[in-house]
Amino acid sequence: MEGLMSRGGEAPGTPDSVIPENEGKEKFKKYNHIAFYRRQKELQQGSSYYRPLMDTLEMSERGAELELIHTETEVRFLLCVCAIQGRVVRVKINELQPIRARYEVPDVLIGEPVRERLSAEKADKDTLRLSWSNGQYQMRITRSPFQLEVLCGGEVMVTLNSQGRLCFETLRDPPDKGSSQKGEQDDEDSAGLWKETFRQFIDIKANGPSSVGLDFTLHGFSNVYGIPEHADTLLLKDTSSGGPYRLYNLDVFAYDIHSKLGLYGSVPLLLAHKLERTIGIFWLNASETLLDISTVSENLVASPSLAKRRKLPSQTELHWMSESGIIDTFILLGPSPSDIFTQYAGLTGWQALPPLFSLGYNQCRWNYKDEADVRAVDQGFDRHHIPYDVIWLDIEHTQGKRYFTWDRQLFPDPPGLQCYLQDKKRKLVVISDPHIKIDPEYSLYAEAKNCGHFVKDREGNPYEGSCWPGPCCYLDFSNPKTRDWYSSKFALDNYEGSTDSLFVWNDMNEPSVFDGPEQTMPKDAVHYGGWEHRELHNLYGFYQHWATAEGLTWRSGGTERPFVLTRSFFAGSQRFGAVWTGDNVATWDYLKISIPMLLTLSITGISFCGVDVGGFFHDPEPELLVRWYQAGALQPFFRGHSAMQTKRREPWIFGEEVTTIIRAAISQRYCLLPYWYTLFHQAQLSAKPPMRPLWVEFPKEPQTFAVEDQYMIGSALLACPVTDPGVKEVKVLFPGCGEYWYDVHSSQIFRGGRTVNVSVTLDSAPVFQRGGTVVPRKKEAGTCTADQNSMPFSLTVALDPKGSAVGDLYMDDGHSFNYTDKKEFALQRFTFFNGKLLSSCSDNTGKFESRCSVECVQWMGVRERPSAVTAQLSGDRAENVPFTYEEKRSLLTVKGLKLGAVQNWQLEIK
Ligand code: NOJ
Repeated sequence: MEGLMSRGGEAPGTPDSVIPENEGKEKFKKYNHIAFYRRQKELQQGSSYYRPLMDTLEMSERGAELELIHTETEVRFLLCVCAIQGRVVRVKINELQPIRARYEVPDVLIGEPVRERLSAEKADKDTLRLSWSNGQYQMRITRSPFQLEVLCGGEVMVTLNSQGRLCFETLRDPPDKGSSQKGEQDDEDSAGLWKETFRQFIDIKANGPSSVGLDFTLHGFSNVYGIPEHADTLLLKDTSSGGPYRLYNLDVFAYDIHSKLGLYGSVPLLLAHKLERTIGIFWLNASETLLDISTVSENLVASPSLAKRRKLPSQTELHWMSESGIIDTFILLGPSPSDIFTQYAGLTGWQALPPLFSLGYNQCRWNYKDEADVRAVDQGFDRHHIPYDVIWLDIEHTQGKRYFTWDRQLFPDPPGLQCYLQDKKRKLVVISDPHIKIDPEYSLYAEAKNCGHFVKDREGNPYEGSCWPGPCCYLDFSNPKTRDWYSSKFALDNYEGSTDSLFVWNDMNEPSVFDGPEQTMPKDAVHYGGWEHRELHNLYGFYQHWATAEGLTWRSGGTERPFVLTRSFFAGSQRFGAVWTGDNVATWDYLKISIPMLLTLSITGISFCGVDVGGFFHDPEPELLVRWYQAGALQPFFRGHSAMQTKRREPWIFGEEVTTIIRAAISQRYCLLPYWYTLFHQAQLSAKPPMRPLWVEFPKEPQTFAVEDQYMIGSALLACPVTDPGVKEVKVLFPGCGEYWYDVHSSQIFRGGRTVNVSVTLDSAPVFQRGGTVVPRKKEAGTCTADQNSMPFSLTVALDPKGSAVGDLYMDDGHSFNYTDKKEFALQRFTFFNGKLLSSCSDNTGKFESRCSVECVQWMGVRERPSAVTAQLSGDRAENVPFTYEEKRSLLTVKGLKLGAVQNWQLEIK
């Protein structure tokens, strides 16, 4: 094993030429290239140009509405504020009488939020107080300067417009070219009001400038998280130097690490955390968005009046700016991290429960060449006794990159191939991108063109850009009719060669346009309803994902859960399936950054997320590949993927030693699937992500706030994947002062509240179980998830300092909607207290029958050898069962049990 470990951390890989020539990173804008950012930053800070007109206040069940006036232009705006049930405040600002309607993001909110009744009180002519929940929550609106404070229990949490940065560029008619002077024209051009040039691209702004912006002060908060997608740290950085975080969905292959430029998807949700409270700011805008963050941590300053030093509290200032649309923002008041997850899911939806197979291991490559290749890879897994569930086909499986077709030379019998896989209970995933090859002979193209399903250019013709197939048109998924049409294409009788074991992957859906500005669609392209692309750019991938998931659901008549992976996403994409982080590189840095990237996605609703295991570009050295499999096996979506130019790297290619370790990592993932599946069930109910930053579980422990190399899987397991080469030990922070943690392999106990150097070898991926929890596993991995239907469970009971533990196990058929439509599921709760382990149904309509039994129970942290262990089924007599006890490991094991997984029973340690 030693031989595989590199010493100095050098990553050999292959030459850079493996990464396609990309004309450099300068194809993407820097913040100073962005005209609306420059315009908003030039506005004077401090004195707001806007004043509320207090006399215009109207109270209704919609909340409070009052007009704002711009003090110089005298243009009027409508400010609507309301309190949403569950401690959420919504603040909306729009022009009172825009000359044209402004874009309000549709389809992201899952419904009209239920409002609380507000009581209004004018404290004086300059201050309006709105309160709800018996005065526990309040908003205070002041006239001069115009500010809006949100208070909880009398304490100000958030102030809007505290820096006077509110900006609302009102829609206007284009200047009359003839009458404007040359100088004025130049000024307008340099401000990018009607036209903005970047490299050879000219963006014509038919509607002129329309940006919006607002600042927020978060009082007492200095730890902020969220706003994916960036390849950056978990804790967001102060942007005072280096420019804002950008949210603009772009295809950035081999993206830079520690960059604030936007990647493939966006979720404009920021979480702020302090010891006593977590809050969230959700900025619902789908146009290009920038966020400046300035954080002051608590510090002591000399006070001139008092000879002493006084404390300046922490605070964070946010400045959100969007190119277009309206201001529509939600302030989630927590107070706990879990409350934020529920509040946000209440607005944008819960993580869809994945079909069980998709939580197994996914094997992908660009490309598996032909049917023989697919079969050989599939057989390779069996030959090497490595479980896996899904093999994936990339763009080359199609006839000339025409999606929904097959290259019949390479794939002469797609249904046969799927049946071959399905016989082994395995699945096939194929890619379906949003660009459609311009080819009148291609029926999908011809039909889409005839029916007007393409995005248009400014002249009203189908917009043409280039992508994999060459010249293409792009489907306009923002049109509900186009979505329905596209969904219908997944019907088994429409999608030739498909069977119901075929699932889908949406790629290039930022959308990627090779010859477009920043490799995406020009902002002046036109969508359904006449909306410019600029208004909804960040929603494009969301819509394709939605239409695809809908298509897979429909094809089964609504009975089967879909599985769709997407690269581009927006707030709410969690409702449609999984997300991955795009084109990473096979280096240690990319392995390391994958953890904060996935944690950030997880806390912003996108719980089912993963990265290309092994790194997409370049060839990983064996040690890196091993470490990546170990890490990937402990992350929600687990898929190995690699680019076309890379060498083959199926798990058995690097010799017996590597194969053995990868086999162990994947097998352990399979054994742990009952726990992962239970976590996804909980994510669907409570919105708590399965993969969690430490601070989410330990919100009162400041030492956890910046941790991004370890994380929790649910509330029971602490994962610390190794992400450095050649290491012999890793530093593990055990949170929870006074708590116990157990190494899941050795049962060694560690005390919480300390950092410990833990020894590792190449085959160890440190995972620790928290004392006080019960984790269900399958006793064996099987060859794929379907094998597990009949396999027995084992339970690991990790005792807390009081000698107790609790845990849950969720079960259903793993693939259909029967768990919700027919309530066919079982939820079993395990409680260990006073020496008794009780298994009881905590939510079970009795409609789900499991053939599986609990065959083995292990207790970690049992200090003394018991005199006996008894088992008792409900209604039966207790009977002694054989056990083994390892004193050195404080480990008690009972094997050979036959206790029903959905039955009530009790095991007692005497
Ligand atoms: C880009 C995707 O990110 C990658 O995963 C895929 O293999 C290629 N497109 C080819 O489809």
